[in-house]
Amino acid sequence: MSKIVTLDEFIIKSQKEITHATGELSRLLRDIGIAAKVINVEVNKAGLGEILGAAQKENNTGDNVQKLDIFSNEKMIEFLANSGECCGIASEELDEFVTLPNVLDKDANYIVVTDPLDGSSNIDVNVSVGTIFGIYKRVSSPKEDCTLADFIQKGCEQVAAGYVLYGTSTILVYTTGNGVNGFTLDPAIGEFCLSHPNIKMPERGNYYSVNQGYYLKFDLEMRRYIDHCSDLNLRLRYIGSMVSDIHRIMFQGGIFLYPNTRKYPQGKLRLLYEANPISMIVEQAGGTAINTKLERILDLDVHKIHQRTTVVMGSKAMVQEMKEFVQRYSAIEI
Ligand code: AHG
Ligand code: MN
Ligand code: MN
Repeated sequence: MSKIVTLDEFIIKSQKEITHATGELSRLLRDIGIAAKVINVEVNKAGLGEILGAAQKENNTGDNVQKLDIFSNEKMIEFLANSGECCGIASEELDEFVTLPNVLDKDANYIVVTDPLDGSSNIDVNVSVGTIFGIYKRVSSPKEDCTLADFIQKGCEQVAAGYVLYGTSTILVYTTGNGVNGFTLDPAIGEFCLSHPNIKMPERGNYYSVNQGYYLKFDLEMRRYIDHCSDLNLRLRYIGSMVSDIHRIMFQGGIFLYPNTRKYPQGKLRLLYEANPISMIVEQAGGTAINTKLERILDLDVHKIHQRTTVVMGSKAMVQEMKEFVQRYSAIEI
C-alpha cells in the first residue's frame, strides 16, 4: 500500500518548487486548509440546528446572503488573521477589503481574495458548494497597512490559487504555478490526503455547462455556439456552483460558460475572487480561460474588488472552437 501524503506534508515537500519559497506561503496554504476543514464541518451539518437559510440581508452585489456564507467568511478571516502571513483579505461578503493586524510584530507579505462559499443557493437543498481563494504577494510596503493596489493586481500575478469542493467527499484543489494537485479529506483522520496528483484536464470532453434558462438573453454568437454543443449531443450539466461545475470539467473535460445577459451585461461572476483563481487552476491543468470578448481572464485589468466578468473556460480544444464560433457569428450584422 502506498504511503498517505497529507496536505501539510505535501506543502512542505513542494516548498522548494515555489518561486517565492520562504515558508510563509506554505504556512498560509496550511491555514486555509484548516479553515476549509472548519467550514466543512458546518456545511456537513447544514440541515441541523440554526444554520440553514437566508440571513435576511443582501451583500454588496445584491445576492441573498445565507447564514453559511457569513460563517464561512468569518472562519476564513479568523484563520488568515491568526496565520501572521496575510495582511489583508477581499471577500465576496465584505464591501471593502479588510486590513489584518501584524501578529507578533512579523511582516505579513500576502493578501488573499476569497469567495468563502460558492453556490450558496444549493445549501438548503443539500447540493454541493465550494470555497475559492487566490493569493497575491503584496505590492505595498510591508511596514504599512495593505492598500487597494495590493488587491487590484491582474490574475496572472497570483502566486497560488485553489478551491475546496464540499461534495460527496470534500476535496481541496490548489496550484502554486507548478501544476495542480487535489487532496481529499479523510474523515477518519481529519486530514486532506493527496488523492489526485498532477491533474490534467482532457483536451476535449462530452460536457457543456451553462445556465441554458438564459438562452434567449444571450448574444447571437453565444446562442449559435450553444446550439452547436447541443448538435454534438454534448451532455448539459449545470449545478449552479462554479466550483462544482468546473470540478467535473477538470477531470472529464468540457466547457463552462457564464456569458453576459440582459440582467448582467458584464457577466455575473466576480473577476477577483471567482474567475481569476479558477482561471489559474484551469490554465495550470492545461485548459483555457477567457471572457466572451476572447481575452485571457488572467490578463484582464482589475479596477475594483467586486468587478464582474463573463467567463468561458475549460478544455483547450473546446474553448478554441467556441472562439471560432464567436469570430464567425459576431461578424454578421443583424
Ligand atoms: P455565489 O453563491 O458565491 O454567489 O456564486 C454563485 C455563482 C456561481 O457559482 C454560479 O456558477 C452562478 O453564480 C450561478 O448563477 P445563476 O443562478 O445565474 O446560473
Ligand atoms: Mn461564487
Ligand atoms: Mn459566495
